Amino acid sequence: MTSSMRTQPDKGFRAAVLHGLAQPEKRIPCQYLYDQRGAALFERICQLDEYYLTRVEIGLLDRHAGAIAAEAGPRARLVEFGAGSERKARILLAAMESPAEYVPVDVSRDHLTQSLADLDAGFPGLSVTPVFADFMADFALPPPNGHGRTVGFFPGSTIGNLHPSEAVEFLRRAARVVGQDGAMLVGVDLKKDEAILNAAYNDIQGVTAAFSLNLLERINRELDGNFDVASFDHWAHYDAREGRVEIKLVSRRRQTVRVCGRQFRFDLAEPIHTEYSYKYSPDEFRWLARQGGFASSSTWIDDQRLFSLHYLRPAATAVDGTAIP
Ligand code: AVJ
Repeated sequence: MTSSMRTQPDKGFRAAVLHGLAQPEKRIPCQYLYDQRGAALFERICQLDEYYLTRVEIGLLDRHAGAIAAEAGPRARLVEFGAGSERKARILLAAMESPAEYVPVDVSRDHLTQSLADLDAGFPGLSVTPVFADFMADFALPPPNGHGRTVGFFPGSTIGNLHPSEAVEFLRRAARVVGQDGAMLVGVDLKKDEAILNAAYNDIQGVTAAFSLNLLERINRELDGNFDVASFDHWAHYDAREGRVEIKLVSRRRQTVRVCGRQFRFDLAEPIHTEYSYKYSPDEFRWLARQGGFASSSTWIDDQRLFSLHYLRPAATAVDGTAIP
């Protein structure tokens, strides 16, 4: 890779890295895994035999698109939290009755432009209105245009990157975005045999390792870092007690690394935590959704019980049992 500065150095990335590496337990938020190269590597992960998530979710969408479309109703507006999976949105839009609008929401202009280019072609009657925003914070939807229900779509088990308390906060915000008449369709990876989970995050070809290690290469490219990438190992393991896969980069030796002119010391075997990927049983996720202000109206699961799709409607009553006026 050359160090041509096609990407503007991201202020948020710089601040997050300098802060995260200065902590007693080093960590870097997983959103920064997805620069251009990271996004391309993630695409390859989605095609791996071991990484069943994407394949099974697409199978569920194909199989249940009719039922989902029936729940959504005519002229619905599909709001995707995080762009970059227009293949999945396309399955829903194709099944929906005269979908009015597709609104991909993403912080990356690259991801948004891509999903636009891909979708404009296939659906002539559809308005595609990208929103450039962080969906973890409050954001405004485009003005109403005579559409029906607003259906939020959060595929890929991206919700698993969030700590359960953050997932609840996310859902509460999403409930405000879709409104009392709206809905959320959420893809959630299921708890299962540890061997299947460990294989999914430790593929034989090493694509997942390359995806994780690209974070250090990105620091070298964009933040004047001097990480010796070969001296770090990708480490991923399912912790059954916590119900999550934990992913980190582990230093193979004692060393000092420079980033943006600052020095960071690593002990032998010291980790940088990069990702959690929480897994939920159907009941656990329904409970979580309830805390987030939603009632589950349908759950679809594949025959091997690998992955789930939850169709959620804003709950008529609040969590404490009081009726919402
Ligand atoms: C995109 C967050 C769903 O947790 O499975 C895949 C990211 N990291 N392999 C996941 C990921 C390593 C992925 N999510």
